[in-house]
Amino acid sequence: MSLLEHFRSSSRMAPVPTAPVAVPPPSTNESVAAIAAGPAAQDASPRGRSIVRNEALVELKARVHEELIHELDPDQLQGDLSYTSPARRAVEQAAEERLALADSTLGRQERLRLASEIADEVLGLGPLEPLLRDATITEVMVNSWDRVYFERGGMIYRADTSFRDDSHILNIIDKILRPVSRRLDDSSPMVDARLPDGSRVNAVIPPLAVHGPSLTIRKFSRDLLTANDLVRLGTLGRSTLDFLSACVRSRANVLVSGGTGTGKTTLLNLLSAFIPRAERIVTIEDPAELQVNQDDWVSLETRPPNIEGKGQIVQRDLVKNALRMRPDRIIVGECRGGEAFDMLQAMNTGHDGSLTTIHANSPRDALSRIENMVLMAVELPISAIREQIASGINVIVHISRLQDGSRRVTHVTEIVGVQGGVVSMHDIFEFQGRGVDAQGQIVGQLQPTGLRPHVLDRLSQYGEHVPIEWFLPLVGSATDGVRAS
Ligand SMILES: Nc1ncnc2c1ncn2[C@@H]1O[C@H](COP(=O)(O)OP(=O)(O)OP(=O)(O)O)[C@@H](O)[C@H]1O
Ligand SMILES: [Mg+2]
Repeated sequence: MSLLEHFRSSSRMAPVPTAPVAVPPPSTNESVAAIAAGPAAQDASPRGRSIVRNEALVELKARVHEELIHELDPDQLQGDLSYTSPARRAVEQAAEERLALADSTLGRQERLRLASEIADEVLGLGPLEPLLRDATITEVMVNSWDRVYFERGGMIYRADTSFRDDSHILNIIDKILRPVSRRLDDSSPMVDARLPDGSRVNAVIPPLAVHGPSLTIRKFSRDLLTANDLVRLGTLGRSTLDFLSACVRSRANVLVSGGTGTGKTTLLNLLSAFIPRAERIVTIEDPAELQVNQDDWVSLETRPPNIEGKGQIVQRDLVKNALRMRPDRIIVGECRGGEAFDMLQAMNTGHDGSLTTIHANSPRDALSRIENMVLMAVELPISAIREQIASGINVIVHISRLQDGSRRVTHVTEIVGVQGGVVSMHDIFEFQGRGVDAQGQIVGQLQPTGLRPHVLDRLSQYGEHVPIEWFLPLVGSATDGVRAS
Protein backbone atom coordinates (compact mmCIF):
# COMPACT_ATOMS: atom_id res chain seq x y z
CA MET A 1 0.00 0.00 0.00
CA SER A 2 1.42 3.40 -0.85
CA LEU A 3 1.79 6.02 1.81
CA LEU A 4 -0.97 8.01 0.20
CA GLU A 5 -3.32 5.01 0.08
CA HIS A 6 -2.51 4.34 3.69
CA PHE A 7 -3.51 7.83 4.64
CA ARG A 8 -6.63 7.73 2.56
CA SER A 9 -7.72 4.53 4.28
CA SER A 10 -6.78 5.73 7.75
CA SER A 11 -9.85 6.84 9.62
CA ARG A 12 -7.76 8.86 12.06
CA MET A 13 -6.50 11.19 9.39
CA ALA A 14 -8.33 14.11 7.91
CA PRO A 15 -9.12 13.50 4.25
CA VAL A 16 -6.05 14.20 2.18
CA PRO A 17 -6.45 16.30 -0.93
CA THR A 18 -6.31 14.00 -3.91
CA ALA A 19 -3.95 15.50 -6.49
CA PRO A 20 -2.04 14.16 -8.30
CA VAL A 21 -3.48 10.61 -8.13
CA ALA A 22 -7.10 11.58 -8.54
CA VAL A 23 -6.71 14.40 -11.03
CA PRO A 24 -9.56 14.69 -13.49
CA PRO A 25 -9.40 12.31 -16.45
CA PRO A 26 -6.96 13.42 -19.10
CA SER A 27 -8.35 16.37 -20.88
CA THR A 28 -6.15 18.31 -23.18
CA ASN A 29 -8.56 20.85 -24.52
CA GLU A 30 -9.11 23.10 -21.52
CA SER A 31 -6.47 25.79 -21.78
CA VAL A 32 -4.80 27.46 -18.86
CA ALA A 33 -6.15 30.72 -20.18
CA ALA A 34 -9.67 29.26 -20.09
CA ILE A 35 -9.23 27.97 -16.53
CA ALA A 36 -7.70 31.24 -15.47
CA ALA A 37 -10.62 33.12 -16.93
CA GLY A 38 -13.17 30.79 -15.38
CA PRO A 39 -15.40 31.27 -12.35
CA ALA A 40 -12.44 31.01 -9.99
CA ALA A 41 -11.07 34.25 -11.29
CA GLN A 42 -13.06 36.40 -8.90
CA ASP A 43 -10.17 38.66 -8.03
CA ALA A 44 -9.44 40.86 -11.04
CA SER A 45 -6.33 42.57 -9.59
CA PRO A 46 -2.96 41.76 -11.26
CA ARG A 47 -1.93 39.77 -8.16
CA GLY A 48 -5.24 37.92 -8.11
CA ARG A 49 -4.91 37.09 -11.83
CA SER A 50 -1.37 35.85 -11.31
CA ILE A 51 -2.45 33.55 -8.45
CA VAL A 52 -5.26 32.12 -10.54
CA ARG A 53 -2.95 31.59 -13.50
CA ASN A 54 -0.38 29.86 -11.29
CA GLU A 55 -3.08 27.57 -9.93
CA ALA A 56 -4.15 26.77 -13.48
CA LEU A 57 -0.55 25.94 -14.45
CA VAL A 58 -0.18 23.71 -11.40
CA GLU A 59 -3.33 21.88 -12.42
CA LEU A 60 -2.18 21.55 -16.01
CA LYS A 61 1.17 20.20 -14.87
CA ALA A 62 -0.50 17.63 -12.63
CA ARG A 63 -2.73 16.55 -15.50
CA VAL A 64 0.11 16.09 -17.98
CA HIS A 65 2.17 14.33 -15.30
CA GLU A 66 -0.70 11.92 -14.67
CA GLU A 67 -1.13 11.23 -18.39
CA LEU A 68 2.55 10.50 -18.83
CA ILE A 69 2.67 8.16 -15.84
CA HIS A 70 -0.12 6.12 -17.39
CA GLU A 71 1.32 6.10 -20.87
CA LEU A 72 5.07 5.76 -20.45
CA ASP A 73 6.71 2.42 -20.05
CA PRO A 74 7.38 1.92 -16.28
CA ASP A 75 11.06 1.29 -17.08
CA GLN A 76 11.25 4.75 -18.54
CA LEU A 77 10.01 6.20 -15.25
CA GLN A 78 13.15 5.15 -13.36
CA GLY A 79 15.43 7.37 -15.29
CA ASP A 80 18.56 9.32 -15.03
CA LEU A 81 17.62 12.89 -14.20
CA SER A 82 20.62 14.69 -15.62
CA TYR A 83 19.63 17.24 -18.24
CA THR A 84 21.33 15.33 -21.04
CA SER A 85 19.95 11.87 -20.25
CA PRO A 86 17.85 10.20 -22.99
CA ALA A 87 15.15 9.28 -20.41
CA ARG A 88 14.76 12.89 -19.39
CA ARG A 89 14.74 14.14 -22.97
CA ALA A 90 12.02 11.59 -23.85
CA VAL A 91 9.81 12.64 -20.94
CA GLU A 92 10.37 16.34 -21.62
CA GLN A 93 9.50 15.94 -25.27
CA ALA A 94 6.32 14.01 -24.48
CA ALA A 95 5.39 16.65 -21.89
CA GLU A 96 6.08 19.52 -24.29
CA GLU A 97 3.84 17.98 -26.94
CA ARG A 98 1.02 17.58 -24.46
CA LEU A 99 1.42 21.06 -23.07
CA ALA A 100 1.35 22.56 -26.57
CA LEU A 101 -1.79 20.61 -27.32
CA ALA A 102 -3.41 21.58 -24.02
CA ASP A 103 -2.71 25.25 -24.30
CA SER A 104 -1.59 27.05 -27.40
CA THR A 105 -1.25 30.30 -25.43
CA LEU A 106 1.76 28.98 -23.48
CA GLY A 107 5.00 30.68 -24.48
CA ARG A 108 7.96 28.51 -25.46
CA GLN A 109 9.97 29.37 -22.33
CA GLU A 110 7.05 28.58 -20.06
CA ARG A 111 6.42 25.30 -21.88
CA LEU A 112 10.07 24.27 -21.51
CA ARG A 113 10.03 25.18 -17.82
CA LEU A 114 6.83 23.21 -17.21
CA ALA A 115 8.16 20.23 -19.20
CA SER A 116 11.32 20.25 -17.10
CA GLU A 117 9.28 20.36 -13.90
CA ILE A 118 7.11 17.51 -15.16
CA ALA A 119 10.25 15.45 -15.94
CA ASP A 120 11.46 16.10 -12.38
CA GLU A 121 8.09 14.89 -11.14
CA VAL A 122 7.94 11.81 -13.37
CA LEU A 123 11.55 10.70 -12.95
CA GLY A 124 12.53 12.12 -9.59
CA LEU A 125 11.47 13.90 -6.46
CA GLY A 126 9.46 16.68 -8.10
CA PRO A 127 9.97 20.18 -6.70
CA LEU A 128 12.99 19.00 -4.73
CA GLU A 129 15.00 18.10 -7.83
CA PRO A 130 16.37 21.58 -8.66
CA LEU A 131 17.49 21.90 -5.03
CA LEU A 132 19.07 18.44 -5.07
CA ARG A 133 20.87 19.24 -8.34
CA ASP A 134 22.32 22.49 -7.03
CA ALA A 135 25.78 21.52 -5.74
CA THR A 136 25.99 24.61 -3.52
CA ILE A 137 23.00 23.45 -1.48
CA THR A 138 23.87 21.12 1.38
CA GLU A 139 20.52 20.47 3.05
CA VAL A 140 16.87 20.62 1.95
CA MET A 141 14.08 20.97 4.50
CA VAL A 142 10.36 20.67 3.80
CA ASN A 143 8.47 22.04 6.78
CA SER A 144 5.08 21.72 5.10
CA TRP A 145 3.80 21.61 1.52
CA ASP A 146 4.24 25.37 1.02
CA ARG A 147 7.35 25.98 3.13
CA VAL A 148 10.56 24.61 1.69
CA TYR A 149 13.96 25.74 2.97
CA PHE A 150 17.54 24.97 2.08
CA GLU A 151 20.98 25.52 3.48
CA ARG A 152 23.79 27.07 1.48
CA GLY A 153 27.13 28.13 2.95
CA GLY A 154 25.87 27.52 6.46
CA MET A 155 22.89 29.88 6.06
CA ILE A 156 19.23 28.89 5.76
CA TYR A 157 17.08 30.30 2.92
CA ARG A 158 13.47 29.84 1.92
CA ALA A 159 13.16 28.15 -1.48
CA ASP A 160 11.00 29.62 -4.21
CA THR A 161 9.13 26.36 -4.66
CA SER A 162 6.33 24.41 -3.05
CA PHE A 163 4.39 21.18 -3.29
CA ARG A 164 0.76 21.15 -4.40
CA ASP A 165 -0.49 19.90 -1.05
CA ASP A 166 0.21 17.32 1.66
CA SER A 167 -0.56 14.42 -0.62
CA HIS A 168 2.09 15.61 -3.07
CA ILE A 169 4.74 15.41 -0.31
CA LEU A 170 3.44 11.98 0.71
CA ASN A 171 3.85 10.79 -2.88
CA ILE A 172 7.44 11.98 -2.92
CA ILE A 173 8.16 10.36 0.47
CA ASP A 174 6.62 7.16 -0.86
CA LYS A 175 8.90 7.33 -3.89
CA ILE A 176 11.92 7.62 -1.58
CA LEU A 177 10.93 4.84 0.82
CA ARG A 178 9.58 2.22 -1.56
CA PRO A 179 12.92 1.13 -3.09
CA VAL A 180 14.58 0.88 0.35
CA SER A 181 11.70 -1.06 1.94
CA ARG A 182 11.24 1.42 4.75
CA ARG A 183 7.79 2.29 5.93
CA LEU A 184 6.04 5.30 7.33
CA ASP A 185 2.55 4.98 8.73
CA ASP A 186 0.50 5.48 11.86
CA SER A 187 2.48 2.89 13.76
CA SER A 188 5.87 4.28 12.73
CA PRO A 189 5.40 7.92 11.79
CA MET A 190 9.13 8.83 11.65
CA VAL A 191 11.66 7.24 9.36
CA ASP A 192 15.30 7.55 8.31
CA ALA A 193 16.36 6.42 4.87
CA ARG A 194 18.92 7.10 2.21
CA LEU A 195 18.55 8.21 -1.39
CA PRO A 196 20.37 6.12 -4.00
CA ASP A 197 23.14 8.74 -4.09
CA GLY A 198 23.75 8.33 -0.33
CA SER A 199 21.90 11.47 0.82
CA ARG A 200 20.36 11.06 4.26
CA VAL A 201 16.59 11.47 4.53
CA ASN A 202 14.31 11.90 7.52
CA ALA A 203 10.54 12.04 7.18
CA VAL A 204 7.88 12.66 9.81
CA ILE A 205 4.14 12.62 9.21
CA PRO A 206 1.05 13.75 11.14
CA PRO A 207 0.01 13.59 13.85
CA LEU A 208 3.63 14.00 14.97
CA ALA A 209 4.33 16.61 12.31
CA VAL A 210 1.62 19.07 13.20
CA HIS A 211 1.72 21.15 9.99
CA GLY A 212 1.69 18.19 7.63
CA PRO A 213 4.33 15.77 6.33
CA SER A 214 7.86 17.02 6.82
CA LEU A 215 11.03 15.95 5.07
CA THR A 216 14.71 16.73 5.63
CA ILE A 217 17.44 15.73 3.21
CA ARG A 218 21.11 16.01 4.14
CA LYS A 219 22.71 15.90 0.74
CA PHE A 220 25.52 13.49 0.21
CA SER A 221 28.62 15.30 -0.87
CA ARG A 222 30.71 13.48 -3.43
CA ASP A 223 33.45 16.03 -2.94
CA LEU A 224 34.16 15.48 0.72
CA LEU A 225 35.71 18.45 2.41
CA THR A 226 39.42 17.79 2.70
CA ALA A 227 41.76 18.82 5.50
CA ASN A 228 42.96 21.69 3.32
CA ASP A 229 39.35 22.79 2.71
CA LEU A 230 38.70 22.94 6.44
CA VAL A 231 41.83 25.00 7.02
CA ARG A 232 40.91 27.29 4.09
CA LEU A 233 37.37 27.69 5.41
CA GLY A 234 38.78 28.64 8.80
CA THR A 235 37.21 25.66 10.59
CA LEU A 236 40.51 24.98 12.28
CA GLY A 237 44.10 26.06 11.97
CA ARG A 238 46.91 24.01 10.46
CA SER A 239 48.65 23.33 13.76
CA THR A 240 45.40 22.21 15.43
CA LEU A 241 44.79 19.87 12.52
CA ASP A 242 48.33 18.51 12.72
CA PHE A 243 47.95 18.02 16.46
CA LEU A 244 44.67 16.12 15.96
CA SER A 245 46.13 13.97 13.22
CA ALA A 246 49.05 13.08 15.53
CA CYS A 247 46.48 12.17 18.23
CA VAL A 248 44.68 9.84 15.79
CA ARG A 249 47.90 8.18 14.64
CA SER A 250 48.89 7.73 18.30
CA ARG A 251 45.63 5.93 19.03
CA ALA A 252 44.23 8.59 21.36
CA ASN A 253 40.46 8.26 21.84
CA VAL A 254 38.88 11.30 20.27
CA LEU A 255 35.33 12.57 20.71
CA VAL A 256 33.91 15.13 18.27
CA SER A 257 31.10 17.12 19.85
CA GLY A 258 28.77 19.78 18.49
CA GLY A 259 25.19 20.71 17.69
CA THR A 260 23.05 19.46 14.80
CA GLY A 261 24.59 19.95 11.38
CA THR A 262 27.71 21.63 12.72
CA GLY A 263 30.06 19.34 10.79
CA LYS A 264 30.73 16.54 13.29
CA THR A 265 30.50 13.70 10.77
CA THR A 266 32.62 15.61 8.25
CA LEU A 267 35.32 16.14 10.87
CA LEU A 268 35.11 12.53 12.02
CA ASN A 269 35.49 11.37 8.44
CA LEU A 270 38.48 13.57 8.02
CA LEU A 271 40.10 12.38 11.25
CA SER A 272 39.58 8.76 10.21
CA ALA A 273 41.78 9.45 7.19
CA PHE A 274 44.76 9.78 9.55
CA ILE A 275 44.43 6.17 10.72
CA PRO A 276 47.45 4.25 9.42
CA ARG A 277 46.60 2.20 6.33
CA ALA A 278 47.58 -1.12 7.88
CA GLU A 279 44.87 -0.87 10.55
CA ARG A 280 41.47 -2.54 10.37
CA ILE A 281 38.50 -0.25 10.90
CA VAL A 282 34.93 -1.15 11.86
CA THR A 283 32.40 1.69 11.62
CA ILE A 284 29.00 1.61 13.29
CA GLU A 285 26.33 4.02 12.18
CA ASP A 286 22.65 4.83 12.16
CA PRO A 287 22.42 5.47 9.23
CA ALA A 288 25.72 4.81 7.42
CA GLU A 289 27.32 8.04 6.13
CA LEU A 290 31.05 7.76 6.65
CA GLN A 291 33.29 7.34 3.62
CA VAL A 292 36.40 5.80 5.06
CA ASN A 293 39.27 5.78 2.64
CA GLN A 294 40.79 2.50 3.79
CA ASP A 295 40.83 -0.98 2.25
CA ASP A 296 40.43 -2.92 5.49
CA TRP A 297 37.14 -1.35 6.51
CA VAL A 298 33.84 -2.95 7.53
CA SER A 299 30.79 -0.69 7.68
CA LEU A 300 27.92 -1.77 9.96
CA GLU A 301 24.53 -0.10 9.97
CA THR A 302 21.60 -0.42 12.38
CA ARG A 303 18.27 -1.91 11.29
CA PRO A 304 14.80 -0.74 12.28
CA PRO A 305 12.20 -3.25 13.51
CA ASN A 306 10.17 -5.08 10.89
CA ILE A 307 6.42 -4.76 10.42
CA GLU A 308 5.78 -6.99 13.47
CA GLY A 309 8.07 -4.79 15.56
CA LYS A 310 10.82 -7.44 15.57
CA GLY A 311 14.39 -7.73 14.37
CA GLN A 312 15.63 -4.33 15.41
CA ILE A 313 19.43 -4.03 15.65
CA VAL A 314 20.69 -1.01 17.55
CA GLN A 315 24.16 0.52 17.67
CA ARG A 316 24.82 -1.17 21.01
CA ASP A 317 24.39 -4.61 19.41
CA LEU A 318 26.75 -3.60 16.64
CA VAL A 319 29.45 -2.31 19.01
CA LYS A 320 29.36 -5.63 20.88
CA ASN A 321 29.59 -7.48 17.60
CA ALA A 322 32.37 -5.24 16.31
CA LEU A 323 34.53 -6.27 19.27
CA ARG A 324 34.46 -9.82 17.85
CA MET A 325 35.62 -8.65 14.46
CA ARG A 326 39.24 -8.02 15.41
CA PRO A 327 39.06 -4.30 14.92
CA ASP A 328 42.10 -2.06 15.30
CA ARG A 329 39.73 0.88 15.45
CA ILE A 330 36.06 1.22 16.20
CA ILE A 331 34.32 4.31 14.92
CA VAL A 332 30.77 5.01 16.07
CA GLY A 333 29.18 7.62 13.80
CA GLU A 334 27.23 9.21 16.63
CA CYS A 335 26.79 8.00 20.22
CA ARG A 336 23.14 8.42 21.12
CA GLY A 337 22.42 5.81 23.78
CA GLY A 338 23.65 2.71 25.51
CA GLU A 339 26.48 2.17 23.03
CA ALA A 340 28.31 4.95 24.92
CA PHE A 341 28.87 2.43 27.72
CA ASP A 342 30.23 -0.24 25.38
CA MET A 343 32.46 2.29 23.67
CA LEU A 344 33.88 3.40 27.02
CA GLN A 345 34.49 -0.19 27.99
CA ALA A 346 36.22 -0.83 24.69
CA MET A 347 38.35 2.30 25.08
CA ASN A 348 39.35 1.17 28.55
CA THR A 349 40.19 -2.39 27.54
CA GLY A 350 42.75 -1.96 24.86
CA HIS A 351 40.62 -0.81 21.93
CA ASP A 352 42.12 2.61 21.97
CA GLY A 353 42.17 4.88 18.99
CA SER A 354 38.39 4.92 18.86
CA LEU A 355 36.56 7.86 17.38
CA THR A 356 32.98 8.99 17.76
CA THR A 357 30.75 12.05 17.73
CA ILE A 358 28.19 13.28 20.19
CA HIS A 359 25.48 15.90 20.03
CA ALA A 360 26.38 18.47 22.72
CA ASN A 361 26.62 22.20 23.29
CA SER A 362 30.10 22.25 24.82
CA PRO A 363 32.85 19.80 25.78
CA ARG A 364 31.55 19.77 29.37
CA ASP A 365 28.02 19.12 28.11
CA ALA A 366 29.41 16.23 26.02
CA LEU A 367 30.65 14.57 29.20
CA SER A 368 27.36 14.92 31.05
CA ARG A 369 25.55 13.49 28.04
CA ILE A 370 27.84 10.49 28.01
CA GLU A 371 27.19 10.01 31.72
CA ASN A 372 23.45 10.03 31.06
CA MET A 373 23.77 7.63 28.15
CA VAL A 374 25.79 5.20 30.28
CA LEU A 375 23.26 5.50 33.10
CA MET A 376 20.49 4.60 30.65
CA ALA A 377 22.33 1.41 29.76
CA VAL A 378 23.70 0.14 33.07
CA GLU A 379 23.42 0.75 36.79
CA LEU A 380 26.81 2.04 37.82
CA PRO A 381 27.80 4.54 40.48
CA ILE A 382 28.43 7.93 38.90
CA SER A 383 31.97 7.94 40.28
CA ALA A 384 32.74 4.72 38.36
CA ILE A 385 31.33 6.18 35.15
CA ARG A 386 33.44 9.31 35.57
CA GLU A 387 36.57 7.21 36.14
CA GLN A 388 35.84 5.35 32.90
CA ILE A 389 35.28 8.56 31.00
CA ALA A 390 38.47 10.11 32.35
CA SER A 391 40.61 7.09 31.57
CA GLY A 392 38.88 6.35 28.26
CA ILE A 393 38.53 9.63 26.40
CA ASN A 394 41.63 11.68 25.67
CA VAL A 395 40.53 14.60 23.55
CA ILE A 396 37.24 16.35 22.77
CA VAL A 397 37.01 18.47 19.61
CA HIS A 398 34.02 20.78 19.77
CA ILE A 399 32.64 22.29 16.57
CA SER A 400 29.97 24.99 16.21
CA ARG A 401 28.11 26.79 13.46
CA LEU A 402 28.54 30.50 14.13
CA GLN A 403 26.03 33.27 13.31
CA ASP A 404 27.70 33.95 9.94
CA GLY A 405 27.10 30.32 8.93
CA SER A 406 30.75 29.32 9.22
CA ARG A 407 31.67 26.09 10.98
CA ARG A 408 34.51 26.49 13.42
CA VAL A 409 36.21 24.26 15.90
CA THR A 410 35.73 26.28 19.07
CA HIS A 411 37.51 24.01 21.56
CA VAL A 412 40.07 21.26 21.58
CA THR A 413 39.84 20.01 25.13
CA GLU A 414 41.80 17.39 26.94
CA ILE A 415 40.49 15.19 29.72
CA VAL A 416 43.08 14.92 32.44
CA GLY A 417 41.54 12.88 35.25
CA VAL A 418 38.99 13.03 38.04
CA GLN A 419 39.32 15.56 40.81
CA GLY A 420 36.91 15.85 43.73
CA GLY A 421 34.53 13.47 41.97
CA VAL A 422 34.39 15.65 38.82
CA VAL A 423 36.04 14.88 35.49
CA SER A 424 38.70 17.52 35.05
CA MET A 425 39.47 18.87 31.64
CA HIS A 426 41.39 21.75 30.14
CA ASP A 427 41.25 23.54 26.82
CA ILE A 428 44.30 23.21 24.62
CA PHE A 429 42.94 25.38 21.79
CA GLU A 430 40.04 27.79 22.10
CA PHE A 431 38.31 29.98 19.52
CA GLN A 432 38.80 33.69 20.14
CA GLY A 433 36.36 35.90 18.23
CA ARG A 434 37.40 39.49 17.51
CA GLY A 435 34.20 40.92 16.04
CA VAL A 436 32.57 40.97 12.63
CA ASP A 437 34.03 42.31 9.36
CA ALA A 438 32.27 44.49 6.75
CA GLN A 439 30.82 41.37 5.03
CA GLY A 440 29.28 40.18 8.29
CA GLN A 441 31.87 37.40 8.66
CA ILE A 442 33.08 36.60 12.14
CA VAL A 443 36.76 37.40 12.59
CA GLY A 444 38.73 35.24 14.94
CA GLN A 445 40.73 32.07 15.19
CA LEU A 446 41.43 29.03 17.25
CA GLN A 447 44.24 29.91 19.61
CA PRO A 448 46.42 27.82 21.90
CA THR A 449 45.63 28.44 25.55
CA GLY A 450 49.22 27.93 26.60
CA LEU A 451 48.67 24.63 28.42
CA ARG A 452 50.93 21.72 27.62
CA PRO A 453 48.74 18.76 26.63
CA HIS A 454 49.22 15.63 28.75
CA VAL A 455 48.59 13.60 25.61
CA LEU A 456 51.98 14.73 24.26
CA ASP A 457 53.57 11.89 26.26
CA ARG A 458 51.46 9.38 24.36
CA LEU A 459 52.29 11.12 21.10
CA SER A 460 56.02 10.88 21.72
CA GLN A 461 55.68 7.17 22.58
CA TYR A 462 54.30 6.75 19.08
CA GLY A 463 57.11 8.78 17.58
CA GLU A 464 54.93 11.84 16.95
CA HIS A 465 57.09 14.77 17.88
CA VAL A 466 54.87 17.81 18.00
CA PRO A 467 56.59 21.20 18.41
CA ILE A 468 55.81 22.66 21.81
CA GLU A 469 55.48 26.11 20.13
CA TRP A 470 52.10 25.02 18.75
CA PHE A 471 50.72 25.27 22.26
CA LEU A 472 52.20 28.61 23.22
CA PRO A 473 49.70 31.47 23.26
CA LEU A 474 49.68 33.77 20.23
CA VAL A 475 50.36 37.43 20.66
CA GLY A 476 49.03 40.10 18.31
CA SER A 477 46.31 39.69 15.70
CA ALA A 478 45.31 36.56 13.83
CA THR A 479 47.02 37.85 10.71
CA ASP A 480 50.44 38.33 12.20
CA GLY A 481 50.00 35.36 14.54
CA VAL A 482 53.28 35.83 16.39
CA ARG A 483 53.88 33.24 19.09
CA ALA A 484 54.92 34.30 22.53
CA SER A 485 58.27 32.92 23.50
N1 LIG B 1 33.87 22.76 8.24
C1 LIG B 1 32.86 22.92 7.41
N2 LIG B 1 32.71 24.04 6.69
C2 LIG B 1 31.66 24.18 5.85
N3 LIG B 1 30.68 23.26 5.68
C3 LIG B 1 30.77 22.13 6.38
C4 LIG B 1 31.85 21.90 7.29
N4 LIG B 1 31.68 20.70 7.86
C5 LIG B 1 30.54 20.21 7.36
N5 LIG B 1 29.99 21.04 6.45
C6 LIG B 1 28.74 20.84 5.75
O1 LIG B 1 27.72 20.93 6.72
C7 LIG B 1 26.73 19.93 6.53
C8 LIG B 1 26.59 19.11 7.80
O2 LIG B 1 27.77 18.39 8.01
P1 LIG B 1 27.82 17.07 8.87
O3 LIG B 1 26.89 16.04 8.33
O4 LIG B 1 29.24 16.71 9.00
O5 LIG B 1 27.24 17.63 10.25
P2 LIG B 1 26.81 16.83 11.56
O6 LIG B 1 27.17 17.71 12.72
O7 LIG B 1 27.37 15.46 11.54
O8 LIG B 1 25.23 16.80 11.38
P3 LIG B 1 24.16 15.91 12.21
O9 LIG B 1 24.01 16.57 13.55
O10 LIG B 1 22.92 16.04 11.40
O11 LIG B 1 24.70 14.51 12.28
C9 LIG B 1 27.19 19.12 5.33
O12 LIG B 1 26.48 19.55 4.21
C10 LIG B 1 28.67 19.44 5.18
O13 LIG B 1 29.11 19.41 3.84
MG1 LIG C 1 26.45 13.61 11.77
